[in-house]
Amino acid sequence: MKVGFLGALLGGFLLAASVAQAAPPSAVFDQTCAICHQAGGVGAPGEFPRLAGRAASLARFPLGRRLMIAAVLNGSIGRVQADHQTIMGVMPAFNQLTDVQACEALNYIASLDGGSAPPFTPAEVAAVRAHPMSPNEVNALARDPTVEAAAP
Ligand code: HEC
Repeated sequence: MKVGFLGALLGGFLLAASVAQAAPPSAVFDQTCAICHQAGGVGAPGEFPRLAGRAASLARFPLGRRLMIAAVLNGSIGRVQADHQTIMGVMPAFNQLTDVQACEALNYIASLDGGSAPPFTPAEVAAVRAHPMSPNEVNALARDPTVEAAAP
């Protein structure tokens, strides 16, 4: 009886593990981010910033990477430029994502539009998580001139 129960439990666990392994690279993004940034990160003009292509540019320099990680962990509130339009945006915090899950979402958006940037690592996410920021502070990063120049 007991073995049967444990067997079923283990079977369920292995099934869950294999499903997780089979998940596409977009899985975390599709579940957590696409409702606003849209499938494939195409964004919604004037509402939600396009990430496809823009995220790849941001992921190529330290401040851009910090912004991306900080936006996911802390959210971001305020005016931002995206595709030469001003968005008055509110992004909620997703600090319930693990470091690994945050990396999956970040690496997915950095890969869109043929983007190739050094991969985000769980340690890099953990380092940003160790210094919580307000959504307004994250927004200030997004308005840094170097960020605006990289992803106008
Ligand atoms: C409820 C809508 C919503 C969801 C869900 C959402 N975002 Fe955002 N995101 C926004 C808005 C709005 C902004 C602009 C924030 C601002 O105005 O400061 C933004 C900004 C960003 C930025 C900064 C882009 C830039 O050009 O400054 C990144 C990177 C980002 N989001 C990634 C993600 C990722 C990854 C997820 C999923 C883990 C996600 N977002 C989920 C609405 C959302």
